[in-house]
Amino acid sequence: MKKQNIIDHDKCKKCKLCIEVCPVNMIGIDSNGLTNFIPERESICLECGQCMAVCSTDAIKISKYSYEENFYPLPEKNVDYEKFTDFIASRRSIRNYKNKPVERSIIEQIIESLDYAPYGSEPNKVKITVFNNREKIESALPLIEKFLDDIIHWVDSPIVSRIIKLKKGNETFNTLKNHLYPMSKLENYKLKFGDRITRGAPAILVFHGDKGAEEHTNNAIIYATYAIFTAHSLGLGAAMNGIVPAAINKEPQIREMFKIPKNEEAVISVILGYPKIKYKKAIKREPKITNWVA
Ligand SMILES: Cc1cc2nc3c(=O)[nH]c(=O)nc-3n(C[C@H](O)[C@H](O)[C@H](O)COP(=O)(O)O)c2cc1C
Repeated sequence: MKKQNIIDHDKCKKCKLCIEVCPVNMIGIDSNGLTNFIPERESICLECGQCMAVCSTDAIKISKYSYEENFYPLPEKNVDYEKFTDFIASRRSIRNYKNKPVERSIIEQIIESLDYAPYGSEPNKVKITVFNNREKIESALPLIEKFLDDIIHWVDSPIVSRIIKLKKGNETFNTLKNHLYPMSKLENYKLKFGDRITRGAPAILVFHGDKGAEEHTNNAIIYATYAIFTAHSLGLGAAMNGIVPAAINKEPQIREMFKIPKNEEAVISVILGYPKIKYKKAIKREPKITNWVA
């Protein structure tokens, strides 16, 4: 379908900012000296909206967006570095929740915040399935417990280990072998000790997408990261959870319970709820290994 990207030349001040910011060089000066979309490049538009956001006279319209629905003025003052680091430092992965459901409107606010996230290639190839029902989450736990127990047999078996490495790659295999296997061996996730899988959380968001969809893995992790910070800003506790998606991808019955379509893979999940415990200190971890070149 032809894109309806338009520049209103009565409004355009020819500042060329849209040309400068466009990530795919889709806007240029045409033979009449007017700023215009370059028709043969419109198919590579990322629909990021930056051209419209930078235009001071609202002269640009790309097919997906309108100034009325998708744009609003930014405040003059931004959060400063100190406030920002205080905020990110005060977030913790929350694994102790009050027995209190999360209002749907709050989860909607969290999901809405993902609209502001960066994305590779396509923003909407990641889907989010929301479970806001503790009973439903609990019903999946025995199957997830079994999946975690099975990891012991898989890693102990040289043949199965080789198959996992070949099919899933070294990163997945090493996560199983070096992270989940020792945990399972020590019965860390056994339900007889309580729910150490979803930690009693009343809600969980599962981020998933078509197996081959471009950049869906990176985008899902970015969206989940935004989700945990937005949850924190709303007074909720949250934590990433990699076990639930791994179990969904391996066991069809768990996939069915979480309503993830067969051709899709779960990438990451986020558990959510009201935190029971308040942390009094930020944790400053050891510095990242950094190579400064020149
Ligand atoms: C990709 C990923 C997967 C994670 N999976 C789990 C998980 O399955 N269960 C869990 O309790 N925490 C999980 N976490 C949370 C980490 O354990 C946590 O971020 C880490 O311990 C640091 O603690 P902090 O978030 O409070 O700084 C995961 C984090 C990431 C980034």
